[in-house]
Amino acid sequence: MLLEAAGISKIFGKLTALDGAALSVGENEFHGLIGPNGSGKSTLMKCIAGAEVPTQGKVSFVNTDITAFTPTERARAGMSLKFQITSVLPSLTLYDNILLALQAHCSLLDLVLSRTRDALHEQVMTMLRQFRLADRAFDAAAALSHGQQQWLEIAMALAGKPKLLLLDEPTGGMSLEERRVTGELLQPIKQHCSLVIVEHDLDFIRDICDRLTVLDQGRVLASGTVPEIQANKAVQEIYLRRA
Ligand SMILES: Nc1ncnc2c1ncn2[C@@H]1O[C@H](COP(=O)(O)OP(=O)(O)OP(=O)(O)O)[C@@H](O)[C@H]1O
Ligand SMILES: [Mg+2]
Repeated sequence: MLLEAAGISKIFGKLTALDGAALSVGENEFHGLIGPNGSGKSTLMKCIAGAEVPTQGKVSFVNTDITAFTPTERARAGMSLKFQITSVLPSLTLYDNILLALQAHCSLLDLVLSRTRDALHEQVMTMLRQFRLADRAFDAAAALSHGQQQWLEIAMALAGKPKLLLLDEPTGGMSLEERRVTGELLQPIKQHCSLVIVEHDLDFIRDICDRLTVLDQGRVLASGTVPEIQANKAVQEIYLRRA
């Protein structure tokens, strides 16, 4: 397993947000994390990324216990989280936003000696092409549509070549067409990266994910392949209860 989070509890004051939750993700796997509002999805993502410290539990990544790692140490180990709060600098061009994200992963010596300039240019353009943003390379990021800004952020989150990308509701506020394109843009990253994605749009998640974990009130209700989860009676009940 690439990622193994086990027995994760998180208590905020009197509220138990997570109660022994678990999540296992293999290499080159797209894993959907679903469940009703307030079931603990975002909190579990934050515990994995190190943005929250679990009250209890253990997180392993690439066979290393990273429970006590800082977010920066986790990033260095190959984990990348796209925050709900944007990391795009709106007045800079798309080109410069991607360049900054790539430079963050270069050594200072390389940068000072400009050893990497040509290589970086190629990488910036490749990433912009991959996310269908090449024709906007020299526009300010502020001029992008909401969907395009999300794609730019996903591209930036991939700049450090992570082994695992964590996305919390990346298609929130997107049009139907933008959602469809997002699914297409994510597919190729599977060749080198696993994904944990939180989404309320079940059609979207069913189309792109290999396996799903369903949270309910801070606990894992079910975990398995998409057909297994679709056939699960307890899962059907929580979604019917919500409808
Ligand atoms: N920093 C915090 N302080 C106190 N309570 C919190 C905090 N973060 C989350 N919670 C609570 O923990 C519970 C789980 O929240 P969380 O955001 O993880 O749910 P979620 O499944 O992501 O929900 P949604 O689908 O609405 O995004 C909720 O009751 C929430 O109010
Ligand atoms: Mg959430």
